[in-house]
Amino acid sequence: MIKEIDNDLELEQVYDLANVVFEGKISSTYFRDFDIAILSSENGEIDGFISWYQEVDHLEYLNYETNNNINIHITCIGVAEKARNRGIATRLMNYVINKFHNCAKRYMLHVSVNNNVAINLYNKLNFHTDFFEMDYYEDDGYGIYTGYGVNAYRMTLLNKSNEQIDGQIDGQIDETISLN
Ligand SMILES: CC(C)(COP(=O)(O)OP(=O)(O)OC[C@H]1O[C@@H](n2cnc3c(N)ncnc32)[C@H](O)[C@@H]1OP(=O)(O)O)[C@@H](O)C(=O)NCCC(=O)NCCS
Repeated sequence: MIKEIDNDLELEQVYDLANVVFEGKISSTYFRDFDIAILSSENGEIDGFISWYQEVDHLEYLNYETNNNINIHITCIGVAEKARNRGIATRLMNYVINKFHNCAKRYMLHVSVNNNVAINLYNKLNFHTDFFEMDYYEDDGYGIYTGYGVNAYRMTLLNKSNEQIDGQIDGQIDETISLN
């Protein structure tokens, strides 16, 4: 069953799993500002987690015609090695997508260009690549500085219930971002 964490013990367990999945490279404050959902096995161990935060889309803020004005940023997903290839990451992603179905304008994430497994997962869920970001990760992508940058794709899933308004406004958002 998927549940959102609501106590320090669960948060500690997520850090433990994240540090195994990401080889000790998660900083101790990484999840501080994120919401987190977990999927546990029958013996109570956490098999997988997903973290995200939400923000109001600044261009949609004054658009009274839609309630779908929230951008959901998926910040991290990880599944214990022994529990992989059983659809757990897909379930966790779908949990977040469904949770915000009535208010999300879009779901966004970044992924290292080298992470083919994760890219496959996101493609399967209909995310599309909309930016290539040079040296996005100043560190190795997980929170530790290694002295060289790692390129990333930004991938986005538009919330279909808001498609027409997305079409009008995306250009402005993308232009702003690409100028930076
Ligand atoms: C990426 C990760 C979360 C996938 O977890 P998972 O529970 O095994 O994924 P699922 O079983 O839901 O698989 C979903 C899709 O991912 C892709 N995928 C999963 N394992 C794969 C593999 N070994 N090779 C290629 N694609 C793979 C496939 O497209 C798969 O869909 P399919 O089964 O229909 O082919 C997991 O491998 C992981 O924790 N990796 C390390 C952490 C990481 O890279 N996180 C993402 C960046 S934050």
